[in-house]
Amino acid sequence: MSHPYPTPTLHAVNGALALEDVALQDIATRYGTPAYVYSRAALTAAFEAYRQALGGRRSLVCYAVKANSNLGVLSVFARLGAGFDIVSGGELARVIAAGGDAGKVVFSGVGKSRAEMRQALAAGIRCFNVESAAELERLNEVAGDAGRTAPIALRVNPDVDPKTHPYISTGLKSNKFGVAFDDAPALYRRAAQLPHLRIHGVACHIGSQLLDAAPMVEAAQKLLALVDQLAAEGIALDHIDLGGGLGIRYRDETPPAVAEYLAPLLAAFEGRKEELCFEPGRSLVGNAGLLLTRIEYLKPGEEKNFAIVDAAMNDLARPALYDAYHEVVAVHERTLPPQRYEIVGPICESGDFLAHDRSLAVAEGDLLAILSAGAYGMTMSSNYNTRGRAAEVMVDGDRVHLVRERETVENLFAAEQPLP
Ligand code: LLP
Repeated sequence: MSHPYPTPTLHAVNGALALEDVALQDIATRYGTPAYVYSRAALTAAFEAYRQALGGRRSLVCYAVKANSNLGVLSVFARLGAGFDIVSGGELARVIAAGGDAGKVVFSGVGKSRAEMRQALAAGIRCFNVESAAELERLNEVAGDAGRTAPIALRVNPDVDPKTHPYISTGLKSNKFGVAFDDAPALYRRAAQLPHLRIHGVACHIGSQLLDAAPMVEAAQKLLALVDQLAAEGIALDHIDLGGGLGIRYRDETPPAVAEYLAPLLAAFEGRKEELCFEPGRSLVGNAGLLLTRIEYLKPGEEKNFAIVDAAMNDLARPALYDAYHEVVAVHERTLPPQRYEIVGPICESGDFLAHDRSLAVAEGDLLAILSAGAYGMTMSSNYNTRGRAAEVMVDGDRVHLVRERETVENLFAAEQPLP
């Protein structure tokens, strides 16, 4: 039988939820709500699943920082020896501040600025995943001016359909990411002529929340064919970066386990000498975190009942943005008859909902846990309605670390000024 919750370290103790050995009630009392709560054991288990599945193969797992960039989370992965996939100079600064190794950083993204290129060259990152011809020329120029050589991979667009939400599908011809597969050989030839670039590898990322390995295998096969074609021309690549994308269980999805997902990829790479890299985000952090919130009001209505909670779309944007489903569970069991509720926040927009039509046995003041919120939760939060961002805490066994203080209202407009 599968675990009752998608979060592996969440369990009920005497009718109340605990993450690892800490009652969620204690976290709410100590740090207030809303609060993002992460489990170090769950983060570690998710990372170790990749490491184990990759076995002795030459490989590197670069955690995609955009999924959750809290320094506490990054430090857990840094200590496990992870690499990092970044998309901005800001994310690079975070990785370094958290004790990550710049030598294991890959830099993705379609719009790298000159300043970001200089910063990444000075830090000595492992590879730039270049996404256009124009970026290739710019990087060569910036590296030359800095007296350095930039290590590069081209992010190619293998044009496979990942069969996921259109907003998070990235490997089709029609979207802005990567260079067209058919243009890649000419761009590698160009890169080989540029004096301040060193060709290292090839990269792709086809989409997110993938529930099937087949599109990844198709992409990997296309990449391998490209690598062989380039080798025949004398352009040798040393690593193949397959990006991120493995999905997680939010509701009743049945994503493959990491080992199952990687098995056909490892088979496709059997006997190959290139290093195999991945950039997982969601599958490392998504189910290691939850958003803890308190019910402010219950508001019964003719058509719908509302549970108005103290978290909102500014804290967790995924439901409003993608109509994403997150499991919502009451922290304390009650003997009340369950009712159906719309779980909504205090923000002045009809789109401010966290969940629709959920059956809950709750009273005003009760705590709710919104599950699977570890990925693209806090990192996509905002200050809309002048709401300070939530606190973030990391549970580690029976200990709790505050890894980000709740934002105060003063924090919010400290950089602003009224006109004189
Ligand atoms: N590498 C690259 C180049 C990426 O663009 C992404 C995610 C990843 C790795 C990590 O993918 P993952 O393993 O997490 O699927 N905000 C959306 C997800 C956007 C994903 C963007 N790229 C959401 O909340 O579902």
